[in-house]
Amino acid sequence: MKFFIDTADVAAIAELNDLGMVDGVTTNPSIILKSGRDILEVTKEICGIVSGPVSAEVVAMKADDMIKEGRKLAEIAPNITVKVPLTWDGLRACKVLSGEGRMVNVTLCFSANQALIAAKAGATFISPFVGRMDDINLDGMELIADIRQIYDNYGFDTQILAASIRTVNHVTQSALVGADVITAPPAVIKALANHPLTDAGLAQFEKDWAKTGQKIL
Ligand code: E4P
Repeated sequence: MKFFIDTADVAAIAELNDLGMVDGVTTNPSIILKSGRDILEVTKEICGIVSGPVSAEVVAMKADDMIKEGRKLAEIAPNITVKVPLTWDGLRACKVLSGEGRMVNVTLCFSANQALIAAKAGATFISPFVGRMDDINLDGMELIADIRQIYDNYGFDTQILAASIRTVNHVTQSALVGADVITAPPAVIKALANHPLTDAGLAQFEKDWAKTGQKIL
């Protein structure tokens, strides 16, 4: 399973990239706002660090304008993935941009039928929002599993990008149901290494080692 990092925090991306944890990056207008940076500048900087797909989202509502914005964003670097919303205008933009050979991430997906039509429109990635579904007591993970089955039934090669990942359990569940990619904030990726038994075991080893009076170096 690929790990995309859901942030425009360049330092956090670079740190995780050095650990081999970054297969790509996703951003959205809220993430750009949080960064306080210019979208073109910060996205270019991210593309200088990460060689995998870097999603940059259009903000227009009409297909023609989305296509223009998508082409401009795609000029930033060859690894830009143009992110469009799951509306008919977004799908029209997806069809045109993917037809031009660009990677397209269709975002704000909340149903299996939405995922089906995104695949038919040529999406490279479909982004179902797990956490936002859980927020309203719907089962985000069931949606990922349904999309997996539908895509496998018909051989669609659109990659399932589990988005709005909030917890380490979301990561485990996404891997179990066969998401191709998860995108998660740096804090969630970092928390994947945590386990209280690891901490307890290490503390015990440290104590016992001190009692041996030995040194390795
Ligand atoms: C990424 O592509 C999505 O925009 C992001 O995961 C949404 O996450 P949120 O629901 O935590 O804002």
